Amino acid sequence: MKFFVFSLLLSLVCADNAPQQQNNQQTTTAASSSSSSSQEYSSEYGVLQFQNVGFEGHYYNVKKIDSSSNESCTCELNTGKPVDFSGAITPLDGELSVHIRGPVNLQKFGYWVADSYTAGETNGSWSRLAYYDSEDQTAENVTFLSNVGENITCLGKALDYIDSDGVSQATESTVLSNVTIQSGDEFVIMSNVSCGKSGFGKDCGVYRDGIPAFHGYYGTTKMFLFQFLAPQDDSDNKDVENYNMPAIWLLNAHIPRTAQYATNSNCSAWASGGGEFDIFEILNTTESTHFYSTIHDFQGTDDIYTGLANEGYIERVDSVMMGGVIFGSDGTATVFMSNETTFDETINNSDLSSWISTVESKEDEHIMSLSSVTSESSKSDGSTLRNSWLTAFLLGVMCIL
Ligand SMILES: *[C@@H]1O[C@H](CO)[C@@H](O)[C@H](O)[C@H]1NC(C)=O
Ligand SMILES: *[C@@H]1O[C@H](CO)[C@@H](O)[C@H](O)[C@H]1NC(C)=O
Ligand SMILES: *[C@@H]1O[C@H](CO)[C@@H](O)[C@H](O)[C@H]1NC(C)=O
Ligand SMILES: *[C@@H]1O[C@H](CO)[C@@H](O)[C@H](O)[C@H]1NC(C)=O
Ligand SMILES: *[C@@H]1O[C@H](CO)[C@@H](O)[C@H](O)[C@H]1NC(C)=O
Ligand SMILES: *[C@@H]1O[C@H](CO)[C@@H](O)[C@H](O)[C@H]1NC(C)=O
Ligand SMILES: *[C@@H]1O[C@H](CO)[C@@H](O)[C@H](O)[C@H]1NC(C)=O
Ligand SMILES: *[C@@H]1O[C@H](CO)[C@@H](O)[C@H](O)[C@H]1NC(C)=O
Ligand SMILES: *[C@@H]1O[C@H](CO)[C@@H](O)[C@H](O)[C@H]1NC(C)=O
Ligand SMILES: *[C@@H]1O[C@H](CO)[C@@H](O)[C@H](O)[C@H]1NC(C)=O
Repeated sequence: MKFFVFSLLLSLVCADNAPQQQNNQQTTTAASSSSSSSQEYSSEYGVLQFQNVGFEGHYYNVKKIDSSSNESCTCELNTGKPVDFSGAITPLDGELSVHIRGPVNLQKFGYWVADSYTAGETNGSWSRLAYYDSEDQTAENVTFLSNVGENITCLGKALDYIDSDGVSQATESTVLSNVTIQSGDEFVIMSNVSCGKSGFGKDCGVYRDGIPAFHGYYGTTKMFLFQFLAPQDDSDNKDVENYNMPAIWLLNAHIPRTAQYATNSNCSAWASGGGEFDIFEILNTTESTHFYSTIHDFQGTDDIYTGLANEGYIERVDSVMMGGVIFGSDGTATVFMSNETTFDETINNSDLSSWISTVESKEDEHIMSLSSVTSESSKSDGSTLRNSWLTAFLLGVMCIL
């Protein structure tokens, strides 16, 4: 097992640089140089780290949803009131929802917070604020939901409670059993803290009428851990969407509350860069044993669909896997898989650091510096500096194998 560090471009984005306009030279250059290096260096690691996560930018939340009929179904983003952000982990410092796609048997899940965290530190500790254990059916501060409600043209299916089987619609919050959800099936975990009324500027913003709306998991400094199986799908249902592509990821919690799979991009904050972090994701069946980790926002890229993938991957094995992601106040996002992972109420950093260094130290240490890109001002729309990407940035990819 090795340790892969990916330094994100620290790019400064002007407040009125709308995502639709982000087609300038410098991001394209940076993104392509990063992906060309990935072909060369992609290999197996136990730890994948992003550094410098967080930038100065904005996204748009939904202002209005009309879901009164299939014909009139439409949404409006509040482009007049962008959500401005800057600093470590942004925009993923906001509330996040947790998403699981099969084939996966989720056995344990937990969410922890700390006041501050610097990657590798050994003092300090984390407090658990949510926990699920399939074995003894513990479910603290978790709500299991899925897109199983009414289907309407612009929004897709509505979020609703799911039964203990992880797939059927339920009328109230129900604890998930020890089940394996199949290829293509997905569910969502939110906290058990109910949202107030839907409305722009309210605690959960605007959300879809009629859904059970819950808060996501807050914090700049937060950690999500999972114990799970991701068994190979050897069935013949190969035309199922996302066949044999298990995944565990996080979204800005506004997104599933409006529409996770909207057909109209104005129906969620996603396309404007609300934020997504893929912790463990199989991207295609050719690489069905490689879990990649990807950030989908506008930091260092103008292509939110591709996002910025860490260049290493973590191996999907046939046995129980344990690990997750740690978001540090130092702007690091550390994804790891370690059999030493525990789910205690308090996790101290000396333990955390030893789980990570155990997987790191199974291989030699190696430091490698990849492409470094110096920017020029935007040529795309740019009469004034106000409309261009400003800052010089450096793509430093370091890997400690
Ligand atoms: C929208 O159309 C779908 C069928 O495509 C139907 O199931 C659903 O009830 C319709 N929704 C409304 C609000 O009319
Ligand atoms: C850990 O120790 C460092 C240096 O001794 C200190 O700066 C930091 O605040 C400590 N962190 C915590 C969470 O106690
Ligand atoms: C949960 O289900 C998995 C997969 O079927 C099985 O391996 C595991 O032993 C089960 N756990 C418990 C506690 O029953
Ligand atoms: C939410 O979960 C916490 C922790 O398990 C529990 O104390 C609280 O009663 C739950 N609240 C609701 C509304 O279910
Ligand atoms: C929702 O209905 C549309 C047709 O209105 C259909 O194309 C789409 O597949 C349905 N979505 C789901 C998730 O069933
Ligand atoms: C549940 O999670 C929410 C969202 O992060 C948090 O605000 C709340 O304090 C947690 N509840 C408990 C009982 O820990
Ligand atoms: C989204 O809203 C903008 C106006 O803010 C509009 O120009 C655009 O066509 C809408 N997009 C879709 C897919 O409806
Ligand atoms: C599968 O995904 C990997 C990782 O993104 C990529 O390198 C590879 O080209 C993809 N393969 C196919 C057949 O799409
Ligand atoms: C964890 O243990 C399983 C066996 O239980 C083994 O297959 C797997 O390789 C181990 N993973 C790591 C990262 O050491
Ligand atoms: C961290 O926790 C472990 C037990 O999980 C304990 O042995 C160790 O002493 C703790 N370290 C600190 C610094 O509290």
